[in-house]
Amino acid sequence: MRKGEITKVSGPLVVAKGMKGSKMYDVVRVSEERLVGEIIGLSADTASIQVYEETSGIGPGEPVYITDEPLIVELGPGLIESIFDGIQRPLDIIRDQTGDRIARGVEIPALERDIKWAFKPLVKKDDKVCGGDIIGEVKETALVLHKIMIPHNVAGKIKSIKQGEYLITDTVCELETKDGIVQLTLMQRWPVRLPRPYKKRLAPSLILSTGQRVIDMFFPIAKGGTACCPGPFGTGKTVIQHQLAKWADAEIIVYIGCGERGNEMTDVLMEFPALKDPRSGESLMKRTVLIANTSNMPVAAREASVYTGITIAEYYRDMGYSVAVMADSTSRWAEAMREISGRLEEMPGEEGYPAYLSAKVSSFYERAGRIDVVGKPSREGALSVIGAVSPPGGDLSDPVVQATLRVVKVFWSLEDRLAYQRHFPAISWLNSYSLYIDDVSEELNTVIAKDFTDLSKEAMRLLEQEAELQEIVRLIGVDALSPEDRLILEGARSIREDFLHQNAFHEVDTYASLNKQYKMLAACLYNYNKAKEALSRGVAFDDIVKMKVREKISRMRYLSESELSSIDKLQDEITKEFQKLLNIGSDVVDDTPVKEKEKESTTGKEESGKEAEKKPVKKTRRSRRKK
Ligand SMILES: Nc1ncnc2c1ncn2[C@@H]1O[C@H](COP(=O)(O)OP(=O)(O)OP(=O)(O)O)[C@@H](O)[C@H]1O
Ligand SMILES: [Mg+2]
Repeated sequence: MRKGEITKVSGPLVVAKGMKGSKMYDVVRVSEERLVGEIIGLSADTASIQVYEETSGIGPGEPVYITDEPLIVELGPGLIESIFDGIQRPLDIIRDQTGDRIARGVEIPALERDIKWAFKPLVKKDDKVCGGDIIGEVKETALVLHKIMIPHNVAGKIKSIKQGEYLITDTVCELETKDGIVQLTLMQRWPVRLPRPYKKRLAPSLILSTGQRVIDMFFPIAKGGTACCPGPFGTGKTVIQHQLAKWADAEIIVYIGCGERGNEMTDVLMEFPALKDPRSGESLMKRTVLIANTSNMPVAAREASVYTGITIAEYYRDMGYSVAVMADSTSRWAEAMREISGRLEEMPGEEGYPAYLSAKVSSFYERAGRIDVVGKPSREGALSVIGAVSPPGGDLSDPVVQATLRVVKVFWSLEDRLAYQRHFPAISWLNSYSLYIDDVSEELNTVIAKDFTDLSKEAMRLLEQEAELQEIVRLIGVDALSPEDRLILEGARSIREDFLHQNAFHEVDTYASLNKQYKMLAACLYNYNKAKEALSRGVAFDDIVKMKVREKISRMRYLSESELSSIDKLQDEITKEFQKLLNIGSDVVDDTPVKEKEKESTTGKEESGKEAEKKPVKKTRRSRRKK
């Protein structure tokens, strides 16, 4: 093996001479401890190397071994349910071998070598195949059927194919290619910095439902879409990422814990196996890959963890799955870039971040997309990326936030004002946006309900009106408002408290299907519209806010998915209670003939409503507008 010699060590950055012939991003092994590093700068025969492990005790004069290979990941059965570090070392296996503190320079393959997988071939002898074609499958977990694909740089005719139980390193297929016989195993390798190829991009027209009401109803993300959730400290970025990892309707989840607290990763490890997928009833861990590079682990590996994660995600996307990647937090990733760039003495850009920050951030998010996959049978896959950003002090003008907002299409703005009020998720409904609303509306309106998006728009209008009215209230107090305006505040309050607010830690409330979300919002708005009608027909505002049915509206969130018919029934109850109010109201000074009144109380709700519209009840004393 060729080798160079260390001339300088500066934290995670090592400079070595005698590196002629090396290429950018080649992996090297530093010192006799064989620490993993990657070449990130070359000039003449000197290389700058970022080292993914602790470099203390390493000094000039020690050797650097050149591998002539880029940083690669192993792709094959066994990825799911694994927990890797930033350079795909299996943390659980390392711990079993070396104890809780990871020893340096450990060389353990990413995928377990001694598990046998039942391989079922899907092609036969003499079939012509090329890169991306599926040749067989392996049941990886109860939730994932792992498709074995031809590696991208290979094409030829099947010479032999096996069936049965094999290790990932066993040959399962022999291929006659123009360069001779190629033996294929259940595993392939791919350089992490190179996006895997695809045939073409497709429109992001399918919603990635997340079970989080504020997201799905107001700021949805599409399958293959990109989203970010910047927010100050403690506003719920991690909780949102966890919620999405748990409940997003993706088939595969890759969760990258990048530079955040170790105990948050422990939470994931402890919670996920116990949680059940709402669709299949299986443990959520059976579709999840975890990449952990927490704050106490070497800083440079954070940089790699993001690429490792997204490459694994692309591999499952290529099988035809919908994959979602969560990265918490991309700010820590950017900080790692800044640290390395500083040590390289590069010209700093804004806030000391390297000038290429924007390019790196966008090249990461651009790996997302809904695509036509390369290879037979034809299939489509989706890779959605959701990044948390933690700008110092929650300042949205931070370069990482700005670079992210330039590429992502959904912005969930987390606000400390909401978090202080314990309104969780603390996603601001006034500042957030989603550019996928139009793309996904057709699906929502055909699959869930034809007025799904209308309902969402109506609710949003009410919330916006509330914000305007609150300005007035701040100036002159709520008493100055007309009952109609107070009703708007009341309607918006109901949407906020009965719909938007969602407790991530409540067994039932933590997840709401699109159907449940629709029914809940429909009930809130039905109640508001009935109230508006009642007010216009003379019922007092105070009587409206005292209605008993409000209690039931506030408890809709706790109804399980099998009890959704109770929400439908709620609309009847709302109608009845308003009917009662209208009747009481009309008793006071109503001069409608008795016969008419009898008719009104016996006819159906719809009819009586229409009837009433034609003949408004006279205003009572109680309901006179405040001037
Ligand atoms: N949906 C939610 N339901 C209930 N509580 C929540 C929710 N979201 C956040 N919280 C509360 O807010 C706290 C802080 O959330 P979290 O740790 O996700 O913040 P963060 O933005 O990741 O903070 P940091 O910047 O420190 O990483 C949680 O411990 C929890 O108590
Ligand atoms: Mg956090």
